[in-house]
Amino acid sequence: MIARKFPNGFLWGAATAAHQIEGNNVNSNWWAMEHAPDSKVVEPSGDAADSYHRFGEDIRLLADLGLNAYRFSIEWARIEPERGFVSRAEIDHYRRMVDACLDKDVEPIVTLMHFTVPRWFQRDGFWRADDAPELFERYVEAALPVVSSGVRYVCTINEPNIAAMLAGGEDVANLVANAMPNPDLLVADRLYESHVRARRVLSGAGLRSGWTVATQAFAPTGEPGSEEEVQRYGHPREGWYLERAAGDDFVGVQAYTRTWVGPGGPLPVADNVETTLTGWEFYPPAAAEGIRAAWEATGHTPVMVTENGIATGDDERRIAYTRGALDGVLATITEGIDVFGYLHWSLLDNFEWASGFRPTFGLISWDPHTFQRTPKPSARWYGGIARANALPDH
Ligand code: BGC
Repeated sequence: MIARKFPNGFLWGAATAAHQIEGNNVNSNWWAMEHAPDSKVVEPSGDAADSYHRFGEDIRLLADLGLNAYRFSIEWARIEPERGFVSRAEIDHYRRMVDACLDKDVEPIVTLMHFTVPRWFQRDGFWRADDAPELFERYVEAALPVVSSGVRYVCTINEPNIAAMLAGGEDVANLVANAMPNPDLLVADRLYESHVRARRVLSGAGLRSGWTVATQAFAPTGEPGSEEEVQRYGHPREGWYLERAAGDDFVGVQAYTRTWVGPGGPLPVADNVETTLTGWEFYPPAAAEGIRAAWEATGHTPVMVTENGIATGDDERRIAYTRGALDGVLATITEGIDVFGYLHWSLLDNFEWASGFRPTFGLISWDPHTFQRTPKPSARWYGGIARANALPDH
């Protein structure tokens, strides 16, 4: 069997986000939202996977599987639980996570903001407040000790396009629906300004940084007007954010599925296609299409696939999906695109926002009572590819 090699030094990892696995993120806006009397979130995040305490075990498992990179986020609501109060203890906590990675020769890739913000930030105007970018910059400066040594890559803001859409006033349940809300353009501008300020701080400390964009593989149906509609509908939801990553050290691509667009807008997922637990079309080429879109829109900013995966209870389908996705990633590298890492979403089953714990994206499951971790067959399969730095031939 001839193996199909990835470039030397390729980053093979898995990704998580603090609020989705840590548990008890009580000072965050999402915790407040989950517990509001009229909450649309199907269940609260609660203890989640208790990764706040069990991160050492999680990083060990990741390394033992054969992976060499871990993308995780640090939580602003813990680091600055009240406006202006920075917790040394929480900075130390996240520094210990970085050190746990380094101890295992795992590349730590740190995200500074993965959707959640402190309650006080929400109260004081959220991303619409005039001083929001300044407050974010102050947080990044405070968090610098977490990343100041041993870290090479920092993701500033996770999926600013989804964050702007969620802020658009529509129902939070739209996160898992097919039609994407209208973005709040003021929020989009503020997120971009926050990103620019964060990058200035990080570059000053010798760190490579970028933001991570949810790519949607918008597909025109071919009907007259559908190409134009892809532009009209897609640009404020994806292209605008990719274009702004021109000149950054890297851009994160986060791809899961595709969205068909007709002359009248996006179409619901067809009845006759395989869907996942989030209701999305099973579509492995999404990763490659996201990479190509990012490479083109940025004028060739290096790409890291910072998320790609599938919510399924059938682990065989996770393997099939990931195999297809990785075939596509390798094809983009062969085409000459600078793709330097692939981080599977997710290391662990986790809290899938408004949908709660039901959509399982993890390579590793855990017992809700004991928190005991169990790697799934897909985790071992994926670890084998990472160790070989190659895909087996078909
Ligand atoms: C987010 C993750 C989320 C995943 C699957 C991305 O939108 O960054 O937080 O769990 O996709 O929906």
